[in-house]
Amino acid sequence: MIVGVPKEIKQSEYRVALTPAGVTMLAAAGHRILVETGAGIGSGFEDNDYIREGAEILGTAAEVWSQADMIMKVKEPLTEEFVYFREGMLLFTYLHLAAAPDLTRALVDTGVTAIAYETIQLANGSLPLLTPMSEVAGRMSVQVGAQFLETFNGGRGVLLGGVPGVPPAEVIIIGGGVVGTNAAKIALGMGADVVILERSADRMRYLDDVFGGRIRTLMSSPYHIAEAAARADLLIGAVLIPGARAPHLVTEPMVQAMKKGSVIVDVAVDQGGSIATVDHPTTHKDPIYVKHGVVHYAVANIPGAVPRTSTFALTNVTISYALELANRGMDAVRRSVPLQKGVNTHQGKVTYEPVAEAVGLPYSPLDKWLESIPYDQLQP
Ligand SMILES: NC(=O)c1ccc[n+]([C@@H]2O[C@H](COP(=O)([O-])OP(=O)(O)OC[C@H]3O[C@@H](n4cnc5c(N)ncnc54)[C@H](O)[C@@H]3O)[C@@H](O)[C@H]2O)c1
Repeated sequence: MIVGVPKEIKQSEYRVALTPAGVTMLAAAGHRILVETGAGIGSGFEDNDYIREGAEILGTAAEVWSQADMIMKVKEPLTEEFVYFREGMLLFTYLHLAAAPDLTRALVDTGVTAIAYETIQLANGSLPLLTPMSEVAGRMSVQVGAQFLETFNGGRGVLLGGVPGVPPAEVIIIGGGVVGTNAAKIALGMGADVVILERSADRMRYLDDVFGGRIRTLMSSPYHIAEAAARADLLIGAVLIPGARAPHLVTEPMVQAMKKGSVIVDVAVDQGGSIATVDHPTTHKDPIYVKHGVVHYAVANIPGAVPRTSTFALTNVTISYALELANRGMDAVRRSVPLQKGVNTHQGKVTYEPVAEAVGLPYSPLDKWLESIPYDQLQP
């Protein structure tokens, strides 16, 4: 198979979908790898690093997109990339289609088979290609939150850990999954008081065990969220309902009741945001805005700030699926339930139910398609 890696064009996005080590693995399996010139620069990889491992460097994105059978990316394609879509092309990347109706329609209209990193799911319900970026974003959320709590960055001038004789800051985390747990680790490490609001009692038991009682857990309800938000110095939105828009758990009146100069980091902004006053994503260049006296940080690609760490963490987990797809084409999907969960659009249909619901297009289960295609036609 021909695997293409274009340069990411989203503002402030410096990650790349494949490391030179990934090229080594794909090339060893007999695949051709086309990398757009400069694609790895933001993550510290030169064209020559790719060439040494067997990749070919092409001068433009158009060449990569038009020649490759499978395109590997990091972020969802932007409007200017829609022109490259064509029937039968495999697109393997983060897509977050529930919040992107135009992109979903473009994929459906052109018949691209789009496999979303974020919906690939293992039997235990975990999302293995979301995990490393959530680990990075969770850890970063506290790092940026601490920074924007500083007076000269617009915050209320509070040090997360306090000092002897001065109490630490209150960090309220809504959602105790991967982002929330990683945020809690860093916040605890910096000496803050940490509360996690969760809706899963089992998850709260787990958190209580792993943190050895050093954080507090609270059942997530409008009452508890309102109470916790009013106390927060730093409020982190970290909920997820897989493939669906994030629920607005913190309402505008709750934000109005927050302390002036407190900071909201809505990590769930990439799923539409979990805070009512987070009405648009921000960028690394212009990361915050102030509403009701509260600093709002709503960057949708937080891991982009640490692209080298993020690129390694991402490709560590994508490469085995990429290799399967390159080796077997769509047959890899037939053989792998986790990959089937990843298929969001195929042959002009939306094949992932929460996305279909969110964008208002009909849902067409992939199982039907899998049954209707003769096995021998699925070979790459
Ligand atoms: N902005 C970024 O750069 C970035 C990067 C990575 C992840 N994310 C986003 O961060 C969010 C969290 O991701 P994750 O990997 O931690 O997901 P996860 O599935 O590991 O955790 C989500 C948690 O939210 C909990 N939850 C669901 N509804 C809730 C509610 N009403 N109240 C309290 N808790 C609730 C779930 O029980 C679960 O434990 C997602 O929206 C994800 O897309 C954003």
